[in-house]
Amino acid sequence: MGFNGFGILVGFSFLIYGVNQVKSSYITWDDIKIEEYYHYKEIESLSFGDGNGSKVIVVDQNGKGHALTVQAAIDMVPFNNSIRVKIYILPGTYREKVIVPPSKPYISFIGDENKASETILSWNDKASDKHKDGSELGTYRTASVDVQSDYFCASGITIQNTVVAVAGGYKQQAVALRLAGDKAMLYRVRILGTQDTLLDSNGSHYFYQCYIQGSIDFIFGESRSLYRECNLHSVADKYGAIAAHHRKSEEEDTGFSFLNCSITGSRGGKIYLGRAWGNYSRAVYSYCDIDNIIDPSGWSDWNHPWRQRTAVFGEYECRGKGADRKNRVSWSKSLAHVEAMPFLDTNFIGGNEWLRL
Ligand SMILES: *[C@@H]1O[C@H](CO)[C@@H](O)[C@H](O)[C@H]1NC(C)=O
Ligand SMILES: *[C@@H]1O[C@H](CO)[C@@H](O)[C@H](O)[C@H]1NC(C)=O
Ligand SMILES: *[C@@H]1O[C@H](CO)[C@@H](O)[C@H](O)[C@H]1NC(C)=O
Ligand SMILES: *[C@@H]1O[C@H](CO)[C@@H](O)[C@H](O)[C@H]1NC(C)=O
Ligand SMILES: *[C@@H]1O[C@H](CO)[C@@H](O)[C@H](O)[C@H]1NC(C)=O
Repeated sequence: MGFNGFGILVGFSFLIYGVNQVKSSYITWDDIKIEEYYHYKEIESLSFGDGNGSKVIVVDQNGKGHALTVQAAIDMVPFNNSIRVKIYILPGTYREKVIVPPSKPYISFIGDENKASETILSWNDKASDKHKDGSELGTYRTASVDVQSDYFCASGITIQNTVVAVAGGYKQQAVALRLAGDKAMLYRVRILGTQDTLLDSNGSHYFYQCYIQGSIDFIFGESRSLYRECNLHSVADKYGAIAAHHRKSEEEDTGFSFLNCSITGSRGGKIYLGRAWGNYSRAVYSYCDIDNIIDPSGWSDWNHPWRQRTAVFGEYECRGKGADRKNRVSWSKSLAHVEAMPFLDTNFIGGNEWLRL
């Protein structure tokens, strides 16, 4: 476990920022940056939980870091962790299924933010696959990366599920990333799959300049999330949908807001902007650039006509051939500015309470 020859690219240190820095309840840019390298440390001396700076664990599949796999790095983080741990992942394809348990908050996965496609976390479970106990996995357990803790951050990496769903196939759902912790920020992360790519499960999340690829319901779940300047890319060859937001009552403050995103496609299928999962499903697209890949009706009630009364599906100031609302279902809305306002910044996700960017 020595560190010989380690350091040209990847110095390693405990970053002690300031003696008085305590557990922060805000996510800042610092949380996704690997700063300077003060000195090298042997892995044996990694001690957690008593300092106030953040710590760095280097993952290198070539053996020159602290861990060979991302999961091994997570396993090094103590339970009930209370300081930011930056897991710095060197380029390569890491073929593993990764779980960040609820007891390990304040974890960052960091690659090179300009080369996200060179650091890949990849697995290939699908809903019909069998669990060890013989039961079917089901959609939720297929995630290649399953984040269950709060204050998670990621930057400069690719998360993928390599299963390719065939339209009409049996239980082809194959999640790349599941986010089920509260307060997460993803910056320049690529999330790749086909059916059910991103399970934006629950909690409040900020996706900034991310690339999300899929075909059917490829962003789905019960979260309250802002997707800003993201590229949502369809690989549907027949039909599909971007957002399947799940909201059960009017009281829930959840929803998906897509702000200044570009929406593209490469396989010719026409997809919906959203499908109503739950009576009060909520999804809004504002200032988005939408290619000619959208089914003209725009939105689907998922064969539950009563949802037309309660689903909140809106568009505001979008452009591009796919933004033409002439043939949209009548129960979707072209929003007035005042109606769009709540969706246009990080206040939508309560950002003033947990983001300092
Ligand atoms: C961490 O911060 C607290 C509060 O400022 C301080 O009392 C404590 O000594 C610090 N611990 C270390 C190891 O720096
Ligand atoms: C983590 O914290 C919880 C709640 O405070 C506690 O019940 C549990 O024992 C702690 N786990 C460890 C390993 O310290
Ligand atoms: C997300 O859901 C899980 C159960 O599925 C729950 O334990 C957790 O507290 C929820 N988190 C938030 C932020 O709602
Ligand atoms: C919209 O996104 C583009 C990049 O995709 C960026 O250059 C521009 O500043 C953004 N506009 C706003 C109003 O945020
Ligand atoms: C959805 O709305 C319908 C019609 O009002 C109602 O019958 C049904 O119980 C609702 N579903 C849920 C889960 O609340």
